[in-house]
Amino acid sequence: MLSLFVLLPLVALAGAASLPHIQHLTPRETVEESPVEISPLILDGYDVQGVDNVPYLVSLSLTKATYAHQCGGVIIGKTWIVTAGHCVEGVRAFNGDVLGTPIYAGVSNRSNVTAAQVRYVDFASVHRSFNGNAGSDNIALLHVSEPFVYTARVQQIALPDVDEDYSGKLVTAYGWGLTDVEGDEFSKQLQYAFAPLLQNSECEVLLPSDAPLTDKQVCSTVKTCYGDGGTPLVYWPIDGPAELVALGSWSYMPCGYANRPTVYTSVPSYVGWIYGTIAAYYQLN
Ligand SMILES: *[C@@H]1O[C@H](CO)[C@@H](O)[C@H](O)[C@H]1NC(C)=O
Ligand SMILES: *[C@@H]1O[C@H](CO)[C@@H](O)[C@H](O)[C@H]1NC(C)=O
Repeated sequence: MLSLFVLLPLVALAGAASLPHIQHLTPRETVEESPVEISPLILDGYDVQGVDNVPYLVSLSLTKATYAHQCGGVIIGKTWIVTAGHCVEGVRAFNGDVLGTPIYAGVSNRSNVTAAQVRYVDFASVHRSFNGNAGSDNIALLHVSEPFVYTARVQQIALPDVDEDYSGKLVTAYGWGLTDVEGDEFSKQLQYAFAPLLQNSECEVLLPSDAPLTDKQVCSTVKTCYGDGGTPLVYWPIDGPAELVALGSWSYMPCGYANRPTVYTSVPSYVGWIYGTIAAYYQLN
């Protein structure tokens, strides 16, 4: 059996230097690797017509001087973004540092980002147990030096309760990742797709038996791909604000291969880490 995984490889597509854990593994190159790919695109999605209903979504740029989408991220406070650990490590590997990385908010159509609120990272914390492999704690927090200004297009999302279980609920993924497995350019137009969140027992059956699935990850049949790392899975309660369920993490390659589910970092498993990291930041700053 070929086990193909790649940690979110946007960077490979951007022509970046080779990264230790974030390699674009093709079926030919990969045989022994453990199944891990941090996920990036939405295949079979739909255009989002305006950004007003996804105001908490941001685009993390790989490069500092120009805008080059690398990953999604989510506003959880006026100066705080949550994203995937591999996204931050990807920027670090590319630029040598994460500080100063631009974050674009209020964007839907990436062809024209002149109206975006752009903020710059001044602090980053990748979960200390993230080791670049799928299955490890693929989450990170970014702090920006100037607060976002909340508008109809820029807002924070609600965090879930600790260990809240969304399985079976309809959740929506939003992202600018590849829309074509063979493609080499991230989507300009924001895409979305939705499906009921799988129970992990259902996901285990659909993934190879050696898949590095843990109870701190969740699965969806929404096929995210390169460029969708850190992008949100969102649940809309009938009344109340949108809740952040999960973050794009990894998938088998090529994206959507054999209809295997995509694996996401389960945010309810990390709410304590998020609050603890933010509290520690304010104690030190
Ligand atoms: C996105 O913006 C570009 C440049 O402003 C424009 O040409 C294009 O039609 C827009 N796409 C959509 C789907 O609105
Ligand atoms: C880009 O957006 C700005 C602000 O919304 C607008 O003024 C400008 O005309 C747009 N440019 C293009 C090429 O569509």
